[in-house]
Amino acid sequence: MNAQVIQGLQRWRTIRSTLSGSIGFVPTMGALHEGHLALLKRSVSENDATVLSIFVNATQFNDRADLDRYPRSLEQDIAHAQRCGVDFILLPDHAELYPDDYRYRVAEGELSLALCGADRPGHFDGVLTVVMKLINLVRPSTAYFGLKDYQQYRLIKGMCESFFMETAIVGCETVREQDGLAMSSRNRRLDADARAKAGRLSGLLREARTDEAAKAALTAADMQVGYVQTLEGRRCAAVTLESCDGAVRLIDNVIVDSVDTSEMPGGESR
Ligand code: PAF
Repeated sequence: MNAQVIQGLQRWRTIRSTLSGSIGFVPTMGALHEGHLALLKRSVSENDATVLSIFVNATQFNDRADLDRYPRSLEQDIAHAQRCGVDFILLPDHAELYPDDYRYRVAEGELSLALCGADRPGHFDGVLTVVMKLINLVRPSTAYFGLKDYQQYRLIKGMCESFFMETAIVGCETVREQDGLAMSSRNRRLDADARAKAGRLSGLLREARTDEAAKAALTAADMQVGYVQTLEGRRCAAVTLESCDGAVRLIDNVIVDSVDTSEMPGGESR
């Protein structure tokens, strides 16, 4: 059966009131890639119905040029979603989602200020606010997020727990290109030279013994490093690459299985 494409929120609410059974939800900003498709396929296999939302959320962009350049490919996205067996594709617009003009927002006071939050002030307020709105509208049993955005996943999970929301938040491992580059909508903006450099990101993060060493290796590989920081056993990083289409910011993280304690007081590396 073809997915229903729904634009007005009132129409969605009417449809939602007729649905019973488990609902899986995959919120996205579109420009779907294999990572998104893996989330959709998992949701379809685990739920009675799957909802995909596509909404480029302006409130999470602290840089207007970044928002304007964010890739958009709606027709292709709808075709991909149909092939995955998605039931509903929700296409809200800004005015409908933000009737209060973003006066009300969800903020977290610690983790959201570190890593990507330090690089992009206000970013996670925008993410948490839109995810809260979408979850309230879709009322899913389970929502699926990619672990490439590990910090985002942790913050969304924390928000749902803190506000006693009934949706289970599931993180799904990153899908990668053959050379290890994490799938990302932003990869489309890389020219050949930047793409070759980006292919080294995950390997350099994995091979380095410390965050500092990873930072030095990425810098030597001609990437401008935003941060490298290990969070809960995952070495997370943001880098910017110059491409003919302007600067492209990529994030990734890898599991670092042995913790290097050599830089800790009295520590010894294992
Ligand atoms: O990960 C994303 O694509 C976005 O941050 C999300 C979760 C859809 C919120 O706009």
